[in-house]
Amino acid sequence: MPNGRTTFSKFIIEQQNRLETADTDLTALLNDVQTACKYIASAISRGALNGRLGSTAQLNVQGETQKELDIVSNEIFIESCALGGQLAGMASEEMEDVYPVTNPSKRGRFLLLFDPLDGSSNIDVNVSVGSIFSILRAPEGKATVAADDFLQPGTQQVAAGYAIYGPVSMIVLTMGDGVNGFTLDREIGAFILTHPNLRIPSDTCEFAINTSNARFWEPPVRRYVEECVAGRTGPREADFNMRWIASMVAEIHRILMRGGLFMYPRDSKDPVKAGRLRLLYEANPMSMIVEQAGGLASTGYERILEVQPSNLHQRIPVILGSCNEVRRLDQYHADHAAGTDKPFESPLFNTRSLFMQPV
Ligand code: AHG
Ligand code: MN
Ligand code: MN
Repeated sequence: MPNGRTTFSKFIIEQQNRLETADTDLTALLNDVQTACKYIASAISRGALNGRLGSTAQLNVQGETQKELDIVSNEIFIESCALGGQLAGMASEEMEDVYPVTNPSKRGRFLLLFDPLDGSSNIDVNVSVGSIFSILRAPEGKATVAADDFLQPGTQQVAAGYAIYGPVSMIVLTMGDGVNGFTLDREIGAFILTHPNLRIPSDTCEFAINTSNARFWEPPVRRYVEECVAGRTGPREADFNMRWIASMVAEIHRILMRGGLFMYPRDSKDPVKAGRLRLLYEANPMSMIVEQAGGLASTGYERILEVQPSNLHQRIPVILGSCNEVRRLDQYHADHAAGTDKPFESPLFNTRSLFMQPV
C-alpha cells in the first residue's frame, strides 16, 4: 500500500480477522455500503450540474417533502446492497415499509437500516450532508422479514456508521471496537484511514440546539441552555459557544473532531412527536458511534441504545456528545422529575445574576 495507507476495505478485513467472531458476510456488506456512499458522494458533488437539486412533489412517510437527492440516494443504497447476498431486508427513512430480500438465493443474515441523505433540507444551500446506517442481525428461520424484525434496541447493532459529504467526504465507522474515520481520496476512488481511534473529549464548552424551539422545550433543557448562555458570570462560570448546522451528520462529526453536545430534545411543538430524530436509523447508529468514542447518548431519561423500539419510523429525544455534559443533562431531568430544580425556576434564582453584577 503506497505510504503504508490503509483503505476502508483492507481495514474491515483486518479488523474481522482479529476477531473470533469474524464474519466475511459483514465485511462484504460494509463494502457494499461503502460503494453506496461513493456513488452518493459523486451524485452530490455534481450539485446542479445533473439537474437533480430541488424538491419533488412527494411526501415521505414522515410527511416531509422529499428532495430529488433523497430519492436518488435511497435508490443507490438499494441497488448497491440489496442483491449482495448479505441482507434479509432493509428499512429507510424514505420508505414507508421494509424492503425484504425475497429471492432465497440472495437472502443473507443481516438487516440494513439507513437515512440515505441526512440534512437534505439543506442540500440546495451546499452545506455538509450525509448518510447514516445501522446493521442488525436478521431473525433466523424466517422466509421473509417484516417490520417487527427491525424493532431491536440499539445495543443489538453489529455495526453503525455515517458518511459525510462536505469539503471532503468521509466514512466514520464502528464495529463495536472503537471508531475510525476514512477520507475519500477521489483520485484513486478509495476511502483511506485518516482518523484512527476517534475519541470525544469528556468536557466541552460547545453545544448545538435549534433555539427557535426554545419556547417548546421542557424545563431541564431550558435550564441547561440558559446556564450555558449566562456564560462566565452564570452558574457554569464559563463562556459557551453555540453551533447549529441543521444537519445531524455534520454536528456529530464536529463532536467527534473536537467534542461538544448535540440536542434535539422532546418538545411540545407537536405533541404527537416525541422528538425530531428517528430512533432506528438516526439516533441508534449515532449513539453507538458516540458511545464507542467515549461519549454518551441519552433521551434525558434513559440510554438511547436501551430503548425498545415500537415502530419503524419512531422519533426519539436525542442528547449526545461529551460525557460530562450528557450526565449533567440527565441530572437536570432527574432534578426536575424529583422537583428539586425549583430554585432555578423561581424568581429568586432569576435574580441571582443580580448578585453577580457590580453595584
Ligand atoms: P433529514 O434531512 O434526514 O430529515 O434529517 C434532518 C434532521 C437532522 O439532520 C437535523 O439535525 C435536524 O433534522 C434539523 O432540524 P431543524 O430543521 O428543526 O433545524
Ligand atoms: Mn436525517
Ligand atoms: Mn434523510
